[in-house]
Amino acid sequence: MRRILITGGAGFIGSNFVLHMRSAHPEDRIIVLDKLTYAGNLDNLKSLSNDPNYRFIRGDIGDFNLLEDIFTGEDIDIVVNFAAESHVDRSILGPKAFIETNILGTFALLEAARKSWLKDGKAPEDKKFLHVSTDEVYGSLGETGFFVETTPYSPNSPYAASKASSDHLVRAYHHTYGLPVLTTNCSNNYGPFQFPEKLIPLMIINALKGKPLPVYGDGKNVRDWLYVGDHCTAIDTVLSKGRPGETYNVGGRNEWKNIDIVSLVCDIIDEKAAGDKKLAGSYPFNGKRKSLIEFVKDRPGHDRRYAIDCGRIERELGWSPKFTFEKGIRDTVEWYINNRPWWEGIISGEYLEYYKLQYSR
Ligand code: NAD
Ligand code: TYD
Repeated sequence: MRRILITGGAGFIGSNFVLHMRSAHPEDRIIVLDKLTYAGNLDNLKSLSNDPNYRFIRGDIGDFNLLEDIFTGEDIDIVVNFAAESHVDRSILGPKAFIETNILGTFALLEAARKSWLKDGKAPEDKKFLHVSTDEVYGSLGETGFFVETTPYSPNSPYAASKASSDHLVRAYHHTYGLPVLTTNCSNNYGPFQFPEKLIPLMIINALKGKPLPVYGDGKNVRDWLYVGDHCTAIDTVLSKGRPGETYNVGGRNEWKNIDIVSLVCDIIDEKAAGDKKLAGSYPFNGKRKSLIEFVKDRPGHDRRYAIDCGRIERELGWSPKFTFEKGIRDTVEWYINNRPWWEGIISGEYLEYYKLQYSR
């Protein structure tokens, strides 16, 4: 039995990963540490509430004393660090929380692992610290080319800079102290439980409700989209087969311009509503939803193109994405249609305050 501390496990990717691990490795003990910021939602994990091999702890990854108690009390073997402030637009409006959680929080987690695992100078074989990061650390690409693991870091947003900083700390803890670390740098994820401030869920919900679809700039920025379930299997694979000290790029070989994704989401919803009277009745709309698209002021410093070369994890560890975008995006639209109470509960309070700020920029 492995004892796995999953930080940020109540967020989008973290909760998908917890559910994946519970079904793929039922023998493991899972401890989730999450601060439950606006982005964390315990509903995502409610299916585990009576599971004796699962424990939820509400707390901050920057709280070193709490971390020490968890490492000692639970005898942690593996850390998977998802906890982060994750939204670029928020990092532009207020970078402080990004510095605190993404940099100082990761630092506290590394320190706790070092103190607990390196008592005799070398970590036992079974210990692993996997840091979940992003391709945004590499900066922006032109029309051609791909990010590889050796691409120099060149982060452009406060979010990307805070993640780059944490990646460097993780790397340094391996080189300096021998901490058994692994880092994954993944492209844009989509799928169930994604907070509706990110492009795909925001567009699904607004298109359902007949609200404007704000596309930044000319809409031709490119992202490489990966279904969240494929990201979870990639992390699981890196945990079992990855070489300590290495980094692995994870991506979908699936580049899309933002405007094309938004148009596709509109078409899928129009098509579903045309064939489903109940759905059409719940979200009445005349005409084509593409008419809701509004080109709005661009995001400051908006990276033009991200594209991942995931050749290393494919060749060395035998992972590859399994979901086609056609299936993944349809499943995701369906998930948001079928889980209206999940997102209705979220679209209120702090979230709306944020959007008022956003549009007054
Ligand atoms: P998210 O915003 O949905 O979830 C983040 C989770 O971390 C939330 O549950 C939140 O409550 C928790 N958290 C925040 N601050 C914390 C703190 N100080 N202590 C403990 N918990 C805290 O994020 P996500 O989209 O699921 O991303 C997860 C990780 O994956 C992040 O590290 C992100 O940088 C990385 N990543 C995300 C993407 C993507 O497309 N979403 C792509 C590549 C990498
Ligand atoms: P986002 O989901 O915020 O991910 P990231 O910035 O980490 O790539 O945005 C994805 C792309 O969609 C990005 O190019 C910005 C763009 N975007 C819009 O055009 N409109 C929106 O309302 C949002 C949230 C994003």
